[in-house]
Amino acid sequence: MTKESQQPTPEVLQSLIWDNDALSLLDQRLLPEETVYLRLTTTQDVWEAIRELKVRGAPAIGIAAAYGVVLGVQDFIGSTADWAAEAERQAEHLATSRPTAVNLFWALDRMKARARALAEQGVASAEATQALLDEAKQIHAEDEATNRLIGEHALTLFKDGMGVLTHCNAGGLATAKYGTALAPFYLALEQGIQLKVFADETRPVLQGARLTAFELQRAGVDVTLICDNMAGHVMSKGWIQAVIVGTDRVAANGDVANKIGTYSVAVLAKAHGIPFYVACPLSTIDLSTPTGADIPIEERHSDEVTVGFGKRTAPEGIAVYNPAFDVTPAELVTAIVTEKGIVTAPYEENLRKLFD
Ligand code: MRU
Repeated sequence: MTKESQQPTPEVLQSLIWDNDALSLLDQRLLPEETVYLRLTTTQDVWEAIRELKVRGAPAIGIAAAYGVVLGVQDFIGSTADWAAEAERQAEHLATSRPTAVNLFWALDRMKARARALAEQGVASAEATQALLDEAKQIHAEDEATNRLIGEHALTLFKDGMGVLTHCNAGGLATAKYGTALAPFYLALEQGIQLKVFADETRPVLQGARLTAFELQRAGVDVTLICDNMAGHVMSKGWIQAVIVGTDRVAANGDVANKIGTYSVAVLAKAHGIPFYVACPLSTIDLSTPTGADIPIEERHSDEVTVGFGKRTAPEGIAVYNPAFDVTPAELVTAIVTEKGIVTAPYEENLRKLFD
């Protein structure tokens, strides 16, 4: 059911802004306590921002990296061929910042292809840098439009009054605007559709508590924060009618990598007969990765687990395993929502059709 509403589009804090030859980046590590924009002027600044989760979320990482390539060549003086080689070198470096989100490699491939094309055309390096910046801006702008479409498609899956659970942060902060999994919540708000969102806090780095709860509350969405281990309990109470999450990479067979804990949520959803939806742009679908087992899973520092809440919460010297992502097998995924529409099984076949 769709209702008309007078409410304007809620304002979302922008995670990335190109500003006067620099990338102005919202430091997501400091949220929700502080809203601080960092001014990044070098490729290495961007590399560190990605690695240290100052910017995070698959699409936002890709956008940041695209601007990072521009920062790496904007002071370059020399031949166009050398300029393109430098752009390529900076892109290769940025590709080592984090391994799982395929949007990073997608954006860098696009920037490298543009740089090569400019070099082939013999465009002088200063003009070529401007054209490369236009490409990064284009990636940024396209992401916003894409997410709005994802939100429109995803909203068709929800009805007024439903409880919807999400994990991690796949919102405006993780993208140019709206997010992927959170986009339908913003559109529901615009249209006066009441949804009751439950946000998993998402240990170890608390993207759900610090970011999803923050951005949805700020926008006026009805959001309730729960600890990760409460998801089964709220499902058993009948409060959840759907789960929707984002993803860092969808393999060709429909297996989905997302923030650690997503797989457990999918199993719980299955046990309770609740649909489990995944929202992502086509740039997150990687047909060159055959299955989830082929997706590289980042492992992060043990401190994220042992000093989780700003103080030591585990004994010194304890062995820690800290994977940042897990893989949800395709059979647990009810549907994948993209800008081109909603895809269901058989994923191998239907994901491929999206690219025809
Ligand atoms: O480690 P993070 O915070 O980068 O992990 C982010 C996620 O897992 C998101 O769900 C995913 O990138 C999709 S963001 C639209």
